[in-house]
Amino acid sequence: MFFSICLYTALSIFLLGLFWKISTWFRYSVGPGSREIKTSKRLFAAIKGSILTILSPKVLTLLKVFVLDVLFQRRIFIESRLRWLMHMCIYGGFMLLLLMHALEHFITITLFPDYASTLNPFLFLRTLFGLIVMLGLGISFYRRHILKIPRLINNAMDHYMVIILAVIMISGFLLEGTKIVSHTRYQEMVEDWSDVDDEESFEALESYWVEKFGVVSPDLEGPFDEETLDLGKELHETNCEACHSRPQWAFISYGVAKIVSPLAVSMDKADVHTILWSLHFLACFVGLAYLPFSRMFHIIAGPLSLLANSVMDRKRSDRANIATRQVMEMDACTHCGACSLHCSVGVLFEQMQNVNILPSEKMASVKRFTANRTAKEGDIKHIQEGLYLCTNCCKCTLVCPVGINLQDLWFDMRETFIQDGHPEVFTLSTLSFYRGLRKDELNEKDYEKPLQQASQALAEECGLFDSVDTPIDLGSLDESFEKDLRTSAQGSTFSFCFTCTTCTSACPVALNYDDPPNVLGLTPHQIMRATAIGLPDLIFRSKMLWTCLGCYQCQEACPQGVRVTDILYALKNMAIRRVKEKT
Ligand code: HEC
Ligand code: SF4
Ligand code: SF4
Ligand code: SF4
Ligand code: SF4
Repeated sequence: MFFSICLYTALSIFLLGLFWKISTWFRYSVGPGSREIKTSKRLFAAIKGSILTILSPKVLTLLKVFVLDVLFQRRIFIESRLRWLMHMCIYGGFMLLLLMHALEHFITITLFPDYASTLNPFLFLRTLFGLIVMLGLGISFYRRHILKIPRLINNAMDHYMVIILAVIMISGFLLEGTKIVSHTRYQEMVEDWSDVDDEESFEALESYWVEKFGVVSPDLEGPFDEETLDLGKELHETNCEACHSRPQWAFISYGVAKIVSPLAVSMDKADVHTILWSLHFLACFVGLAYLPFSRMFHIIAGPLSLLANSVMDRKRSDRANIATRQVMEMDACTHCGACSLHCSVGVLFEQMQNVNILPSEKMASVKRFTANRTAKEGDIKHIQEGLYLCTNCCKCTLVCPVGINLQDLWFDMRETFIQDGHPEVFTLSTLSFYRGLRKDELNEKDYEKPLQQASQALAEECGLFDSVDTPIDLGSLDESFEKDLRTSAQGSTFSFCFTCTTCTSACPVALNYDDPPNVLGLTPHQIMRATAIGLPDLIFRSKMLWTCLGCYQCQEACPQGVRVTDILYALKNMAIRRVKEKT
């Protein structure tokens, strides 16, 4: 009764959790463009997209990814053999236990009508699968706590599921061990299954079970004489053998049984095996109920993320499906840390102590932000720092074992913050290149917005960056500025410039406008010239400096070897230094 209540409660929580979680895939959104798409439209697009994909040749790709990446876990194999072994052990071992042991009434009995949990090969296989899971858990502990993989951050969630799994496994082995030695269980069985009725036979059968099956009897103790054992064997063969292989096959539990056998009689009296039984099942139920809310939910979201990413393409897929995929991907994250290990700027974490520099942690923050749609200003600054320090190198996306397109996530998060009115003024230009490449995804107003906000903020905060239209006093030549630039090898190359305008002709930003100087203030070659004559204010105010994509086309094209782009970066840094000094 109690067992059924627990089971149905756990199952209901699991199903409700599952439903709620999956519904968030269609309700939450990451990128600014996806916020406007209604849930019903996203649901419909997902159904339509799935059906169309299954009916198209892409189904072959899905099949390939399912076998290689989902079943064989190719991505983890490439990343680390040890991690692959760990994952295969936990996931494979547990699945086998689930199918053969936990669902024995539904699956194993249907497939093998003679099935008994105490009979080989099942008895042995249960131990083997359990051992495999334990091995996986051991490797997991070793990786996280002994090997100390760099930048692998452990959070509470990482521990909960491992602890639940460990409790399930350990209580299972202990339970089996105490059952083997239990005299009460033995007696119940004899009452149920034997036709033994005389005292001598009772004793013979019990002696045989004490001798060969590890039962600890309060009355009988070996060594037994041959005759008794022979009779016991005979009785065993007629009454019990059909369902019982030797418990030695369950070698772990048998080991446990041997260890606890001195205490067996008192444990039997205290009904320890009922306690262990309750613990074992309770841990299973807690695991089941907690699954949709834990990191383990990746069992469901991970394969879906891998499959979706293998057939979806940001340019061609329905925007509604991209929005759904992005939220689903966040549930697929296993917090494995592979992305952080390979991140180009991960090393900065050691200096800056902002966890959001690491993609695995940034992912967790972005997930929290997406669920609540808001965060404290300080937290947003932290996430933003992580987002802007990212170099868009794509390594995280390449190594992620569940195929999450992290690059897209970072881009959309930056845009979301910008459009929510959280511009990050000073680092804006480092992401412009990426923004420029994705310009067609944003409407013009959205694209311009941060640029305007940046110039406005600079103008308001320090007066360094007035609007382009304000006339400037050209009389103030600044010699210290030129000296500053000459301190670096790249910076000093500005003096080679002979104003040929090739850089400006190569510049995609300048090419964007009919009348570049009017919009941009100065064009690249004019900035080089203004540098040579020492007019920092003029340069800092020019929109060109701040809209530069960092694409290096100008530098590549310059016949004089002027490091144009590097100089632009040096100038931006100089401007920021000055602002910081003033404020
Ligand atoms: C119809 C099959 C069947 C027969 C016949 C049978 N048993 Fe069992 N027995 C089982 C099953 C199944 C379990 C495990 C029950 C559980 O999981 O609690 C078990 C459990 C036990 C246990 C507890 C230890 C353990 O491994 O779980 C003992 C002891 C035991 N049986 C003794 C006997 C004896 C002695 C006989 C013969 C008189 C006998 N059984 C006949 C099916 C059988
Ligand atoms: S794209 Fe950004 S977050 Fe990802 S690895 Fe490169 S620098 Fe790190
Ligand atoms: S994003 Fe991918 S690589 Fe990074 S922690 Fe999550 S699952 Fe691992
Ligand atoms: S291409 Fe080189 S030399 Fe020509 S204007 Fe630009 S920086 Fe000067
Ligand atoms: S790097 Fe040079 S070419 Fe590229 S946008 Fe900046 S100024 Fe223009």
